[in-house]
Amino acid sequence: MEINKHIFLIGFMGCGKTSVSRELSAQTGINAFDTDELIAESEQMSISEIFRVKGEPYFREKETGLLASMKGQEPLIVSCGGGIALAPRNRELMHESGVTVLLTAEPETILERLKDDDSRPLLAGRKNVPHISSLIDARRPAYEEAADIIIKTDGISPSEISREITELISQL
Ligand code: S3P
Repeated sequence: MEINKHIFLIGFMGCGKTSVSRELSAQTGINAFDTDELIAESEQMSISEIFRVKGEPYFREKETGLLASMKGQEPLIVSCGGGIALAPRNRELMHESGVTVLLTAEPETILERLKDDDSRPLLAGRKNVPHISSLIDARRPAYEEAADIIIKTDGISPSEISREITELISQL
């Protein structure tokens, strides 16, 4: 299948964006990258350090700059940081240059996937189902507004999710 736009993978931390983007890249031959990785690399700091030293608004500006810089580039698969879809400008940029796929997962699934991972500043000291659940509820309207396609990931492997995405994109 010919894909001539960017594919943006969005959704809460731990919903599988990075692993799905790798599968999608392998299945389509389109290059994939991760916004967090690129920002951490260009700042020479981990995401937690950027939040601590430069502050979250600085990080959010970098995310918007990155999305803006992708306009007109060859199609890419973009695994987006979990907060990207919250800013209206970012949603606009994604709509202009690609198709946006929202991956969802139950709070229990997310907790299970992230329980040994301390790289998320927004969950530091609050890695529990009620907190994850309330953050997801607060973000849901923005996530859904951004999404062209929504996929529930609980119990489904990244390669199956990836196949479902290509199938659904071909029907758009
Ligand atoms: C964030 C999600 C993280 C990272 C940062 C903030 C968020 O990315 O961008 O910690 O606001 O949800 P992942 O979704 O890749 O974990």
